Amino acid sequence: ASITVQPQMARPISELLLGIFFEDINYAADGGLYAELVQNRDFEYNPGDKEGRDPGWNSSHSWTLQGANTSFAVDSSTPVHPHNPHYAVLDTKAPGAALVNAGFDGIPVKQGEKYDLTFFARRPDGPKGKVLVSLVSQQQEVLAQATVDIAPGNWTSVSTVLTAAADATAAQLSLQPLSPGRLSLDMISLFPQKTFRGRKNGLRADLAQAIAGIHPRFVRFPGGCVAHGDGLGNIYRWKNTIGPLEARVPQRNLWGYHQSAGLGYFEYFQFCEDIGAEPVPVVAAGVPCQNSGAGTCGGGQQGGIPMDEMDEYVQDILDLVEYANGGVNTKWGKKRAEAGHPAPFHLKYIGVGNEDLITDVFEERFTLIYKALKEKHPEITVIGTVGPFFEGTDYEEGWDIAGKLQVPMVDEHYYQSPGWFIHNQDFYDRYDRSKSKVYLGEYAAHLPGRPSNLETALAEALYLTALERNGDVVQMASYAPLLAKEGHTQWKPDLIYFNNTAVKPTVGYYVQQLYGLHAGDEYLPGAVALSNNDDAVKKRIAVSVVRDTKSGDLVLKMVNLLPVAVQSAIDLNGISVASGQALKTILQGRPGDEDTRPVTISCEVAEKFNTALPAYSFTVIRIKTK
Ligand code: AHR
Repeated sequence: ASITVQPQMARPISELLLGIFFEDINYAADGGLYAELVQNRDFEYNPGDKEGRDPGWNSSHSWTLQGANTSFAVDSSTPVHPHNPHYAVLDTKAPGAALVNAGFDGIPVKQGEKYDLTFFARRPDGPKGKVLVSLVSQQQEVLAQATVDIAPGNWTSVSTVLTAAADATAAQLSLQPLSPGRLSLDMISLFPQKTFRGRKNGLRADLAQAIAGIHPRFVRFPGGCVAHGDGLGNIYRWKNTIGPLEARVPQRNLWGYHQSAGLGYFEYFQFCEDIGAEPVPVVAAGVPCQNSGAGTCGGGQQGGIPMDEMDEYVQDILDLVEYANGGVNTKWGKKRAEAGHPAPFHLKYIGVGNEDLITDVFEERFTLIYKALKEKHPEITVIGTVGPFFEGTDYEEGWDIAGKLQVPMVDEHYYQSPGWFIHNQDFYDRYDRSKSKVYLGEYAAHLPGRPSNLETALAEALYLTALERNGDVVQMASYAPLLAKEGHTQWKPDLIYFNNTAVKPTVGYYVQQLYGLHAGDEYLPGAVALSNNDDAVKKRIAVSVVRDTKSGDLVLKMVNLLPVAVQSAIDLNGISVASGQALKTILQGRPGDEDTRPVTISCEVAEKFNTALPAYSFTVIRIKTK
């Protein structure tokens, strides 16, 4: 192949192109990125969290009473907070028994590391008491222990630090009353002190670091389907997820488990700030999933939020802007400051709607929200939705509404085969430049059995060259979903798999990372000529050349989805290189490989140079030009 860069045709492209999509699916939040180690800390698990109402999924899930002469019950008559009605009551006749939590597949601890244990306790009948708290290994070895005092009377908060004496992959947390009498317990929480950036109520350091390693320019949250829920009562309400943990409103996760809301809007904003990414919250457009009850998220309630409740709902969304950006003297800005962040979060984007079915019910509500945001917060870019992109849906109607309202950007979603991505590289080349910009909010290459392998990763890499080429239209793009916990996966493939102790990025992860690391703000068209002019061959070679104008670096991204190596003659066409050496990163292997990793080597470059694109490979060459 010959690849001739055309610097004279350089054009600006979106600097935000590559971001991430975070949804609490596959235990991505509780039991995942959220570093809480106690499962069902709030005693709010409910059989209704599970499809078909699983009776074992209840307030005492993950908790057992071990030992005799003590009873364990769940009560709700005098809660710590009305939003968290259930709590444990231990009635101890003679000390010895303990309330034990199994964690999420066990509690992983590391020797020498410190863990913050906090809980609320109540000794309604007095007198003051003591509780022995311990981390115990599967072999019944005590890994850490402390005794805490409990004041008599109403709820008080208790805290101590446990230091692990040894490593364990699946320890348990035990709370043993040392005094006879009644003891109520709630919000029993254990966090490693080593969270990402050391944040309290923070994120699991290794997982957050893997996400940061993508270098995402934005983070979309909290979904996906989770954002709009599968019924009116299940819509994600951001106000329910801020403030003291006991005052947040836990709820059913439509993927079949429980959302503690411990990872809430404050934590999302803070994470974005910590990794230098723009926050992109997505709120429901006043309708739950597919608003007719037949969408990806499963059944749902018909219709949207009643129109006479929409003013309040719209106000909630306006308040979100105040929470993120308002001064500390505003009602919601003050709450942000109280949470420890007086400075604004500089929110610039809000997504309204997620893959909704485009109906009159949707349009009426979306229009209200859109107009209110536009009027009150013209500084915010609203991202609309054009609905799901699959057969039988009215994709065009979403575009019509966007056109009518002049929505600046719309969210598109498509999960397709590698072949679809190969054959639709011109999807945005054909795009009408006068229409709304695009946020490709969810995409992934899907094969039967849903693996994440080199074939899917290369199809995504190839399609991303087309997104860079169309970076004037496609402003943002995020692969979905991001995280999946082994053994708790509702959706495949995902970008990063993990268990309690290991993080397992997929091949697709490295494609995203290479695009994140090697983004540009200028696109330089490249003319690609192949000796074989067969369409099927041509479509399997894709090239994108971008420049990062700050560093002056030129980045060549080249995908070869052919089963043979392709020798390439590259002509930078007047761009002189600053050094004869450049870094070249190659991801290559067999299409079915799931554990291929990129390798970076030094290579020789010049204004004209040759390079080989191995069979089934993605090659990135970064060239210094200043
Ligand atoms: O990414 C998984 C799901 O796919 C999202 O929750 C939903 O928006 C889409 O259908």
